[in-house]
Amino acid sequence: MNHQTPRSHSPDTVLISTAAIRRRIARLAAEIAKTYDPTRELVIVAIWHGSFMFMADLLRQLHRQGIRTHVDFMTLASYGAGTRSSGRITMLQAPALPVKNQLVLLVDDILDTGRTLIRAIRWLRQRGAKNVKICVLLDKPARHKVKVRADYVGFKIPNVFVVGYGLDHDKHYRELPYIAKLRQR
Ligand code: XMP
Repeated sequence: MNHQTPRSHSPDTVLISTAAIRRRIARLAAEIAKTYDPTRELVIVAIWHGSFMFMADLLRQLHRQGIRTHVDFMTLASYGAGTRSSGRITMLQAPALPVKNQLVLLVDDILDTGRTLIRAIRWLRQRGAKNVKICVLLDKPARHKVKVRADYVGFKIPNVFVVGYGLDHDKHYRELPYIAKLRQR
């Protein structure tokens, strides 16, 4: 029996290949390692779910650079079933690790309007995080709506909806090992 429902969108062209992602993450980890003191543990807070693949690969590259980490997650919701943000950000699950006086690297899949990251930064600062830096795999500068800048950016992309490598459309396509543009059928 086929339980699959027809999808209104499908991944179209590959925007960023698996090999390009791998190479860029290795370089990002090297950039990050340059700015952190290796004698201190870095608290990584990844924004769930979209960043899970990026975070896993980034962590392994940070390890190669000699950076020791503590890892936790934060779940914030802004998107419903479509491709447009609701604009309202809700905290669904906060990290359990204490962040007071810690160096925190906030990891997200994509900086779109910036509202999610602003909300996450505010939350971490209110709890006493000492230094919060932001690392995103993708940045869509044309879509920024609030003043937020990522310290480390994998790729700047145009204003297209993308899926794959952890990013979904309506729960689909997270498993793709590359980033693809989404096409409407
Ligand atoms: P904001 O607007 O708060 O949004 O910066 C961040 C979150 O929105 C999701 N998002 C996308 N998800 N393809 C996706 O699969 C996209 O092109 C896209 N643009 C934004 C994503 O979850 C991100 O964390």
